[in-house]
Parts: sequence; structure tokens; C-alpha cells
Amino acid sequence: MLNHETIAVKPLFDRESCTYTYLVWDKVSKDAILIDGVKENSDRDLRLIQEHSLNLKWTLETHVHADHITSCGPVAKKLDAKIGVSIHADIHSGECVKLEDESVTKVSPNMSFKVLFTPGHTSCSVCFVIDGHVFTGDTLFIRGCGRTDFQAGSSVDLYNSVRNKLFTLPDETIVFPGHDYKGEIFSTIGEEKEFNPRLKMSNSLEDFVTIMDNLNLALPAKIRESIPANQQLGF
Ligand SMILES: [Fe+2]
Repeated sequence: MLNHETIAVKPLFDRESCTYTYLVWDKVSKDAILIDGVKENSDRDLRLIQEHSLNLKWTLETHVHADHITSCGPVAKKLDAKIGVSIHADIHSGECVKLEDESVTKVSPNMSFKVLFTPGHTSCSVCFVIDGHVFTGDTLFIRGCGRTDFQAGSSVDLYNSVRNKLFTLPDETIVFPGHDYKGEIFSTIGEEKEFNPRLKMSNSLEDFVTIMDNLNLALPAKIRESIPANQQLGF
């Protein structure tokens, strides 16, 4: 795990969908958050929570995923944690807390999470800022970003979210993405401002839209089952 002054971050990977899940905890109180859990990996995540004697307080979702089914509902229910989703997410289950843009939620004496509403990949996408780290979901990847061609996505919105919200964070902020397809684990805001081929500071909005318009990606294999299941929080 990655040890910082007050918190620990354990990046976890789903090989099938290349999704990152993050277990983040207060090193003193052991209060914990699970971000973007994947259904098939819930036994692994529950084992880690037990091994580290953590008190899971929250499961958080960066958006309604199209490529995998979330574990947030079942894991939160099992451990009596809260489920946090964007206030803009189209969730058909009452068992969650709708999080507002810029809201700060205290989890433990040393750990809070701040919500940044970052539409673009989907119209409900959010990022979470925790003590100098930003968990970017599919808004910003290492040297890339999430696609914008379904779920009310918008390249213009994604560009503005990254430029006006994420790239205004301090350059040393550590970026933990929602996926990686190239074998990288984390980055920084400063690195992405300089080297992200889609969103670097020297690219204009027009450059970005042209790149996104020409991706020609196939739909995710599990999109038909994932979106409705995730609108029910994976229950
Ligand atoms: Fe996504």
C-alpha cells in the first residue's frame, strides 16, 4: 500500500475490465473508504478490510459504470457502511447518499473526502479529493481520459471539467485513475498537464474534440447488464 502522513491508499485492480478499486484509510482510526469496487472482487476487498482491521464507513462511486458491475451495495450492506453517489446519478435505489458538488464529508478525525462534479465521461461523473490525492474515475486517466460517446457524455464538458476543476488542483496532487490499460498505476496533476496527449495544457478544446471524435471505440462488452445493475447499486 502507499503510505502517506495520515492516510494509506491501496490500489486494487480488476484484470477483466482493467478497473482500479481503491481502499483508503485513516492510519490512526482505521476508518476506511472503498472507491469503485467491482462485484467479482468483493471477497478480495472484504478480506483486505478484515486483514487491516478497518472500519468501512463509505463505499463511493465515481459514476454509473458501463463496463463492470459495482460491489458498492452488497459490500456496504454487509459492513454497515454508507453508499455515496453523485447527486446527478440516475440511481434507482434509495439506499444511498446523494453527494453534492464541492461537498466535504468527514469520515474520521484525520480523513475527509471532497466531491468534485466533473461531467464529461458521463453526465454524473465525480472525482474525490482526499488529502492531496484525487480519485478521478473515468474523467482523467494516466495519459488519457474516459470516452464521451455514451451515457450523456460530452467532450466539451470533459475538457472543461479537467481544465477548470482537476487542473486547478496543486501540481503535486496524486492522480489515481479509474482504469489503466497500459500498466501504469498513478500520476500527478502536474505530469498530466504536461504529458497527457489529449488534455495537456497546449491542446485547445478543438484539438481535444477532434481526438475524441475519432476514437471509433466498440461498445463495452457488458454495457447492457452493467448500467441497469449499477443503477441498483449492484444489489
Ligand atoms: Fe466509465
